[in-house]
Amino acid sequence: MGPIEKTLKRLPISADDEKPLWFMRQAGRVLPRYLKLRESYSFDTLMKEPELAAKVTLLPIEDLKVNGAILFSDILVIPEALGMELKFTDAGPRFSSPLSQAPNSIEHLSFDDSKLQHVYKTLEILTRELPQKVTMIGFCGAPLTVFCYMVQGLGSDHDFPAAVSLFYKEEKLRNILLEKITQASIEYAKHQVAAGARVFQLFDTWAGILPAKDFTEIILPYVQRILASIRETGVPVIYFPRGLGLANSAITFEIADGLGVDWQSDLAEIDSIVPADITLQGNLDPRRVKAGWPFVQPALDQLIEFHIARRAKPGKHIFNLGHGVIPGTKMETLQKIVQRIQEK
Ligand code: CP3
Repeated sequence: MGPIEKTLKRLPISADDEKPLWFMRQAGRVLPRYLKLRESYSFDTLMKEPELAAKVTLLPIEDLKVNGAILFSDILVIPEALGMELKFTDAGPRFSSPLSQAPNSIEHLSFDDSKLQHVYKTLEILTRELPQKVTMIGFCGAPLTVFCYMVQGLGSDHDFPAAVSLFYKEEKLRNILLEKITQASIEYAKHQVAAGARVFQLFDTWAGILPAKDFTEIILPYVQRILASIRETGVPVIYFPRGLGLANSAITFEIADGLGVDWQSDLAEIDSIVPADITLQGNLDPRRVKAGWPFVQPALDQLIEFHIARRAKPGKHIFNLGHGVIPGTKMETLQKIVQRIQEK
């Protein structure tokens, strides 16, 4: 069992263990070998051919020496498996008809798990190929984040006005859609665990778009259901609710084993408002990482201090960024971050 899994299970880390460390979006954005593969294959092909998806998942293990491998896939596969038409264009992924254009079509969405067989095959290959110390991390998008994309589409308005107004105006349809996403995610996550995921992260990139009260009262129960069904299998879960701020205090050990902390938050402050048994993950600012090594080193050294101080807590700390690696980041900067963390 590797250091990421041990940390989340609150097991002791031995002297010869590495420090637990991975980067959100470590595979698909900056590695030269990934960018090279993208010259020959579309993103869709890389994701849907299990041999290729497994190969891409392994790149950061080999090139960055992280000890977590995040499945190479995307959160948008759930909308696709629910029946929406999705195209990965040069400008990024696009739905042919976001649900705000025809809200009643929400009632006709139906989950087809057979569209996701390639994901399970990828995980089976990886289970055979991963070194022992590397933890296989499965993932999917959280209900609110997936809801936002399904209803609004993938434009650049990240306040999601079409999605949030439907959220309030069409309460019945909203609940139907959140329920469908939740049920599909539960089935998908459990299937990932059966295929070999040892840790599961739920990405809630847009958790911060609702007022905190609505988030905790309406959304969090769906999140909790997904996470609880994964925890029942014995696999620990990390929840990454970006932009939640002080409402992070609602994320107790009842909900998740680990909390992914965004770059907006002060890690020590989050540490003071969540229970000590929750593992904290994060939270270097990916823009600082993009700026280059001299600009990231002081922040990294502070993070290493935090890590050392947190080792006394049952839930400890996993190194990561406070959001995904940004395109254009130098691989060398990521490599230096890993070296410094492991040598200290
Ligand atoms: O390291 C990895 O890249 C692992 C696999 C991974 C992808 N997407 C591949 C991807 C993971 C973990 C995701 C999660 C994801 N996808 C999130 C949550 C994390 C976050 O960054 O907030 C979200 C919001 C998405 C939705 C999504 N998929 C967007 C907005 C885009 C376009 C912008 C972008 O990220 O490039 C995608 C496409 C996507 N997902 C690509 C990759 C490698 C780019 C595809 C291409 O080459 O065109």
